[in-house]
Amino acid sequence: MRHWPLTQLTLATPDLVLRIPDDDQLDELAQVAANGVHPPGAVRFPQSWASGTPEETARNVVQNHWWARGDWSEDNWRLLLAVLHDGQVIGQQNLSARDFRITREARTGFWLGQRFQGHGFGTQMRAAALHLAFASLGAERVTSTAFADNTASRRVSQKFGYTPNGVRRLVVDQHLVEAHDSVLTAEQWRTQAQQPIIVQGFDACRHMFCALANPEPVDVVRHV
Ligand SMILES: CC(C)(COP(=O)(O)OP(=O)(O)OC[C@H]1O[C@@H](n2cnc3c(N)ncnc32)[C@H](O)[C@@H]1OP(=O)(O)O)[C@@H](O)C(=O)NCCC(=O)NCCS
Repeated sequence: MRHWPLTQLTLATPDLVLRIPDDDQLDELAQVAANGVHPPGAVRFPQSWASGTPEETARNVVQNHWWARGDWSEDNWRLLLAVLHDGQVIGQQNLSARDFRITREARTGFWLGQRFQGHGFGTQMRAAALHLAFASLGAERVTSTAFADNTASRRVSQKFGYTPNGVRRLVVDQHLVEAHDSVLTAEQWRTQAQQPIIVQGFDACRHMFCALANPEPVDVVRHV
């Protein structure tokens, strides 16, 4: 789409493609969520968008994408990418920021349909989001939050060497949860072995993020 250049952005990992979903892919993504993102009763997100009926969950996904697009500004953006494996939609990777121009800080979130979890996809999704944030956008910090009992999510952050950044108490659906914040700096990220990530279409939408014109080069950056 000419007038929404984010549709040109594609990130590729060894097994996955991440991109803004078209209408059919968004519908598929909603169905993946409706089929289950976590076991009933589990608390994984501050907003319990995946805890209602399958119809409610699916609609929440669609509306969230529309909202993120409608609400987009250079100073407050939420990039919601559909994740595809072998052409099939399996989940979603988020990267968002407020006042990125000044803070140079972005935040990630992610989820997969239950049957796609535990195959290493979440790790590749995070690698792609970190690459976009640090190598393409010029972020200085990327943060992540996971609840205390979310072993998979916390393990993914641990694998990338995040530093714990405090524990907050939240109430979700009248339940007390402990939110573990963690942060990864550009310096920490640059010293790690990098996964091969290919970014396409970024130059067309760079201006929508308030990205740095020329972030420090990283060996593995490949803009096609
Ligand atoms: C969180 C999520 C995106 C991670 O994706 P994933 O593909 O399942 O994660 P990966 O397979 O890449 O890695 C998960 C890591 O956690 C580990 N792990 C998962 N469950 C575990 C458990 N119960 N105990 C110990 N380790 C566990 C895995 O072994 C793996 O670590 P390893 O590579 O060192 O073996 C996915 O599980 C998910 O969608 N969960 C439900 C939604 C959610 O919680 N989203 C995040 C909200 S903060």
